[in-house]
Amino acid sequence: MSDWETIRLEFDSDDVATLTVDRPDRLNALNVDTLEAIEDALEEAEREGARALVLTGAGDDAFVAGADIGYMRELSTPEAQAYAELGHRVADKIERFPAPVIAAINGYAFGGGCELALAADLRVASEDAVVGQTEIDLGIVPGWGGSQRLPRLVGDEIARRLIFFGERIDAQDAHEHGLVGEVVASDQLDDHVADLAADLAAKPAYALRTAKELLNQAHETGQEAGLRYERRAWSGLFGTHDQREGMAAFLDDREPDWE
Ligand code: COA
Repeated sequence: MSDWETIRLEFDSDDVATLTVDRPDRLNALNVDTLEAIEDALEEAEREGARALVLTGAGDDAFVAGADIGYMRELSTPEAQAYAELGHRVADKIERFPAPVIAAINGYAFGGGCELALAADLRVASEDAVVGQTEIDLGIVPGWGGSQRLPRLVGDEIARRLIFFGERIDAQDAHEHGLVGEVVASDQLDDHVADLAADLAAKPAYALRTAKELLNQAHETGQEAGLRYERRAWSGLFGTHDQREGMAAFLDDREPDWE
């Protein structure tokens, strides 16, 4: 496993990868090195065949407190463009990771931190988490996908309110807005997310990956093209080990043995 300074990548025996942003003295804020390390780690987790991936932050206070404000302060427009492209690459890699990604939001998730969570498949927050697209109060706007992914998740009006006011909302409000799927007690977050990830890792991986691609596609194309894509993806699963095995196991009244 590669050795990064500000992130950790660990695998468990269920092939669940956990990627932890580990820069607690900066509340896990994302500088260039950290973003590049996340990009590397996502590639490594894919190569190693992760069946689910958990994304979280080190320490008790923060998931990720955003892009690194100290780094951004004096950026020129071309430098800011490069930083935006890097952040977008990382968010896209999370969104397209070939297995489900769960953001375990264990504290502050502001700006770029909120945007990484938005790119995940599922978001689970601890009851003391605080989230927001807070960029407006720094004189900027969301730059790593928030302006596009947030309205899809919470609707246009709420997204406008969150982005215009830079509101910092607690986990319960985030749940009411649909920004996070679940809120759990802080001391239960790790175990609960580990259970979810293990359940996903026990599903047929190729079908799960196909389901993720289809759901991603629903945001990218019109319905007609999406339905065509679904028909092809659905029929493409026939003849795979897991399709034959899943249906045989049902008919034989036994547990399936997935690939
Ligand atoms: N970039 C760089 N450094 C950051 C950071 C960020 N996004 N967020 C926090 N830090 C640093 C602080 O500067 C501080 O460094 P210091 O110890 O050298 O002073 C350290 O992390 C701890 O943060 P601090 O503000 O002292 O902790 P707090 O508990 O009082 O407040 C927050 C925590 C998250 C509420 C506050 O740090 C904050 O509002 N951060 C900025 C969030 C933001 O706007 N993010 C969007 C960026 S696009």
